[in-house]
Amino acid sequence: MTPVESDHMIIWGWTGLSHDASLSVFSKADNLKLLWSAHSERYTRVKNDAELNYTILQEALQWGDPQRIYYYENPWWKKTRQLYAGQYNQLPSISPTKHMRNFYTDAPRSQYTSHHLSHAAAGYYTAPFNNTAVLVIDSIGEWNTTSIWSGRDNKLKRKWSQNYPHSIGIWYSAMTQRIGLKPQEHEYILMGMAAVGDPDRLYADIKKDFIEKTPVSYAPETIFKRDCHRGCLDWRPDLNTPQDYADIAAATQRIYEEIFVELCRSAYFMTDGKYDSITLAGGCALNCVANPLAELLFKNVHVPANPGDAGSAIGCVLAHWKKFMLMDHAYLGHEIKGDYPVEEILRELHTRKITAVASGRAEYGPRALGNRSILADPRGADVKDLVNTIKHRESFRPFAPVILAEHASEYFEGMTGDFMQYVSVCKDPEQFPAVIHYDNSSRVQTVQPNSKHGIRKLLERWYEDTGCPMLLNTSLNIKGEPLVNTREDAERWTKQYGVQVCLPE
Ligand SMILES: [Fe+2]
Repeated sequence: MTPVESDHMIIWGWTGLSHDASLSVFSKADNLKLLWSAHSERYTRVKNDAELNYTILQEALQWGDPQRIYYYENPWWKKTRQLYAGQYNQLPSISPTKHMRNFYTDAPRSQYTSHHLSHAAAGYYTAPFNNTAVLVIDSIGEWNTTSIWSGRDNKLKRKWSQNYPHSIGIWYSAMTQRIGLKPQEHEYILMGMAAVGDPDRLYADIKKDFIEKTPVSYAPETIFKRDCHRGCLDWRPDLNTPQDYADIAAATQRIYEEIFVELCRSAYFMTDGKYDSITLAGGCALNCVANPLAELLFKNVHVPANPGDAGSAIGCVLAHWKKFMLMDHAYLGHEIKGDYPVEEILRELHTRKITAVASGRAEYGPRALGNRSILADPRGADVKDLVNTIKHRESFRPFAPVILAEHASEYFEGMTGDFMQYVSVCKDPEQFPAVIHYDNSSRVQTVQPNSKHGIRKLLERWYEDTGCPMLLNTSLNIKGEPLVNTREDAERWTKQYGVQVCLPE
């Protein structure tokens, strides 16, 4: 039976069955309103969990039963690519509708949106401008690996796309695996390692061995010499020291940046030079070191809070409904109710320099933005070690600052954003060694003056007390686990690390 459409109709979008399942709930009321969005992993505590689960569905159902459900890719089209790629073990997979009905028997049938359209829509319909070039770069969905779109007057038009097996994302993941990291998860660590390596030493070797052709304006294809889908662990076994790994990372990142700039140039030409804005989407849009380079071609750059596959739970719905929905925050998930514990956090910061918070709705996207965060005083030489001791993570990896937006340009040069999408350069690195990388760069999160969220209030009070408008902000998680989600997770974190997580009363 076809459900009756009403203004209060509930619409779902979801991703999963490959990696990082997520679910979004919209209401048709108020010109399509996003009510809630969350990642499956936060409920099962399994990093990048590919499957839905009973708990996430029960939380989504608090908004009412959905009448429409959209899924972020076309599984049948994907199977043709998997057949071509020889991934025979993946062919008998369960259909998206059947998978959801394992946890919610009355779920309507899931309708499909193509993978790159879901990415493009997640970027375009959440952008602060109506007309923009859109560049999508990821590993692989169905067949597309890179695509360029024109977003104009509420419509997305595909201008160009490239197909598997030539994939910039797959190559970057293969290099991630080559240096001993986990592909499809640790690409951000390769990006961080790049700053400590020598980009010149292996640049020519990597280019010669992997890349046949890089993009030029009207011919944006990147042609690879080898299919990296099954990795490249056999490449140059002589390179196996920590310095070799750092140099591979540095050269890989440099080559990615070169390709990225040329793709931006292509996006400019293929949209006839009529846009001064570009929207970046797909998992590669998490490359916050490369993203600011888009400014070489475009005046404005937009990267959504969650540009990877999980963010397509929003994109697959927006692609069908073609509605603009400015997303000025990413606090969309599970709620720990009550007032943001500003005073308790300040007390801890003043006495111990470091504390943690779990309050309000969890962040949708890979980054903690103040609701599930470890927070610390960014001044002084000892803070980085203090936080690293708790997080047990690689010493080369930097922590990020969160700053009152109106003060960002006093301390940082270059692009900053509300979702940590760009790196900029710290003007006073000696004063803030905990939030800068080896090259004095910082991945800055700004908090706008009109923000009604707790982190804004906290920064304002911290600034009043200390004259410093920023804090160190890093994700609140137990090593190897997803971000803390619930009050119970936060209490478990406190027990494990001995640092009190500030919770609402
Ligand atoms: Fe993707």
